Amino acid sequence: MKPIKVGLLGIGTVGSGTFNVLKRNQEEITRRAGRSIEIAMVADLNIERARELTNGEVEVVNDANLVVNNPDIDIVIELIGGYGIAKDLVLKAIANGKHVVTANKALLATHGNEIFKAAQEKGVMVAFEAAVAGGIPIIKALREGLTANRIQWIAGIINGTTNFILSEMRDKGLDFNTVLKQAQALGYAEADPTFDIEGVDAAHKATIMASIAYGIPMQFDKAYVEGITKLEASDIRYAEDLGYRIKLLGITKRTPEGIELRVHPTLIPEKRLIANVEGAMNAVLVQGDAVGATLYYGKGAGAEPTASAVIADLVDITRLATADPEHRVPHLAFQPAAISDLPILPMSEIVTSYYLRMHVEDKPGVLADVTRILADLSISIDAMLQKEPGEGETRTDIIILTHQTKEKNIIAAIEKIEALATVTGSVIKLRLEELS
Ligand code: HSE
Repeated sequence: MKPIKVGLLGIGTVGSGTFNVLKRNQEEITRRAGRSIEIAMVADLNIERARELTNGEVEVVNDANLVVNNPDIDIVIELIGGYGIAKDLVLKAIANGKHVVTANKALLATHGNEIFKAAQEKGVMVAFEAAVAGGIPIIKALREGLTANRIQWIAGIINGTTNFILSEMRDKGLDFNTVLKQAQALGYAEADPTFDIEGVDAAHKATIMASIAYGIPMQFDKAYVEGITKLEASDIRYAEDLGYRIKLLGITKRTPEGIELRVHPTLIPEKRLIANVEGAMNAVLVQGDAVGATLYYGKGAGAEPTASAVIADLVDITRLATADPEHRVPHLAFQPAAISDLPILPMSEIVTSYYLRMHVEDKPGVLADVTRILADLSISIDAMLQKEPGEGETRTDIIILTHQTKEKNIIAAIEKIEALATVTGSVIKLRLEELS
């Protein structure tokens, strides 16, 4: 059978990884796909570097339109990133009847509904394994391996940069800004790491997982996004004293009222496997009603781990290219006509446990006042830690862990606690998930 021809848009780290792995494992991949897969054309603004990376073996152009408009190209791999030009090119490729593979989580989380609708109408595939957790085949697992299950919740460490920063903060007792500089020097964090440290990258990935887990449209605009920039080293220490680790989790849960979709620093019991995922590694924990909990672990970024996911999509498309569109795996796991309109819940309605840290006067009655406020709002206390005041100090930190309650209750409690004359400054609030 004639080779399937691929056009690559953008040959940076992942693009060159894809080129190299495809070449190195060509024979095995052809035996699996049933046809050879050949990168026939590359578009990149840096033509010289693109020629070097492809050893002069591939036609290189600097105008991506030449790739998406080329009738000989069967599949377009979009590795440009962002939602500007990448969106135009993906839509053009679809309009020209080409299948698309993309690692672009930002594009899918924000414009996925439009892109998948266009692909559906045109009968082409848009595959995106590399968009979530890099080399971990989590899209395949959610969409196909767990297809028997009613997914109940997903909690993932889906941003390697922030997991590296949190691991270093805990291991070495350093503050956020010091570790961020180290992460940038080591090449983990981008020169502009905003999307990573503010939780946006993780929220893009959580949005995509929620969509295929529950059969709902992509709704990044309704996700709650909180990064790690305000996290203090003392909270990481206190959490540890109480038997917890703090991780930036992407969480989505099905509840009777709707879907929770949120990214924030989260305390997790240190005995959970996922709490021990360190450095730049990723892990995703999925709870299905039939299978129970399953955990997926691996590299969430990097040239060859991400190429592994891109090529898996190329092979899937190669195998299915001749199948009728209605016999293929649906883009978003559920049949397009069966997409549900379950609402994404506002943050005030989510239910979780909390870590509260307050700076208080060390005198009789202070703790009683705080616990009365919590009791009046039906918030139950799970654990408490009071530090000895420092030498000559009359104030100290109290840390309280609560049982589950609605976020609106905890906000009301914090307002009242902050109004107490014996409490100084703001109450630090972190969310806690038992993940049991
Ligand atoms: N910037 C991402 C991370 C990798 O740090 O995990 C690509 O999704």
